[in-house]
Amino acid sequence: MVNVVVIGSQWGDEGKGKLVDWLSSQADIVVRFQGGHNAGHTLVIDDVTYKLSLLPSGIVRPGKLCIIGNGVVLDPWKLVEEIHSLQSEGVTITPENLKISDTATLILPFHKELDAMREDSSPKNNLGTTRRGIGPAYEDKVGRRSIRLGDLKDPKTVKNRVDLMALHHDPLRSYFGVNPIDKENIYKDIMNIFSKIKGHISPVWQELRNSIYQKKKILFEGAQGALLDLDHGTYPYVTSSNTLAGYASIGSGIGPQHLNYILGITKAYTTRVGSGPFPSELFDKNFDQLAKRGNEIGTVTGRPRRCGWFDSVLVKQVAQISGIKGLALTKLDVLDGFDEIKICIKYKIGNKFIDYIPSSISEQSEVEPVYESIRGWKTSVRGIRNWLDLPREAKEYIQFLEKQIGVDVDIITTSPEREDTIVKRNPFDEI
Ligand code: IMP
Repeated sequence: MVNVVVIGSQWGDEGKGKLVDWLSSQADIVVRFQGGHNAGHTLVIDDVTYKLSLLPSGIVRPGKLCIIGNGVVLDPWKLVEEIHSLQSEGVTITPENLKISDTATLILPFHKELDAMREDSSPKNNLGTTRRGIGPAYEDKVGRRSIRLGDLKDPKTVKNRVDLMALHHDPLRSYFGVNPIDKENIYKDIMNIFSKIKGHISPVWQELRNSIYQKKKILFEGAQGALLDLDHGTYPYVTSSNTLAGYASIGSGIGPQHLNYILGITKAYTTRVGSGPFPSELFDKNFDQLAKRGNEIGTVTGRPRRCGWFDSVLVKQVAQISGIKGLALTKLDVLDGFDEIKICIKYKIGNKFIDYIPSSISEQSEVEPVYESIRGWKTSVRGIRNWLDLPREAKEYIQFLEKQIGVDVDIITTSPEREDTIVKRNPFDEI
């Protein structure tokens, strides 16, 4: 039996959607374990495009059980909106195929407001968040003020928790010059939306435990990327959850021994949205080529993505701290036509060379990339589905990355089409 965890191994937007969809077609259960509706996955199945933010990707496939784990922060209004939008496209969503952990915490409207007020208040220090209330909702979780889904069935608890959150949020709101929380209305809105989602709420850890006994295949679908991890990413320019594979265990309630295979999705170059260090970032014509050919526009916020050469220092570090067993290299076709392709192999800081990203904010902003150049390929790899059909230079590029990172590239994607994929090793076939 094998359960697979998929994570992004850069700063998100590695093209997880297509691979997660392919893997979810082989899985029995698909689980989201962290983040919230800051994620954006686009799936194209039989020419129909589905845009998902919060729901696990398996939801568009009949017969799959989808689980939103306790590690997720959940905006119930967005959830209902996403369910309705998918239902209008003919997707079946019922309490039988969508279960949400009773210990997941809520994102409420004032979390979103606080996120935006903070971002707007200090352009110098802003993080470039998705403004969806993710950070403030996790803050309330850690501060032990949140409302968890399992508490919604008791109106008295909900009232008390709203009061408690108002005690914390009202002084902050007053600092930003906005009115205190309208407790009565928030309470009514919460109870109202609860009636629409209550059928889905359950202790999902029990469901997962039973599924493991029954040897079902579970796919854990990570959102964002490892370099946005709250502990191991480029702090403070990170998201507020743990995006590394280990969190699949905590964020869903199964033992870590059941996470058998960790697949790191890695773009063939590097992109990032929002602020923060990016050692191999490009500002020249190579940026234009990557951004244009890669259509590098954020799915959630529509912001242009920053682009740069592949950074093997970062991906190697991520592979080591996340226990990545195999890589899926995406968007290889975007590199078609370059005379030379550069790969960052180490950093220079002062007179020193290092092979890791330093932890301090100042040093992270000071590191300079040291590149190795390799010859590009002049033919197109677009649509290639067989390793042997790749041009020699493309094979050399991939083999160079494998050597730098110390992990095999198991899967390569060569166009947005699902079929245009080279599979050297299928994670679900691994024992
Ligand atoms: P937050 O998650 O909205 O708090 O945003 C924190 C940082 O994570 C910002 O730099 C966002 O651009 C980034 N971020 C959040 N979600 C995603 C995602 O799904 N893809 C890429 N970047 C993301």
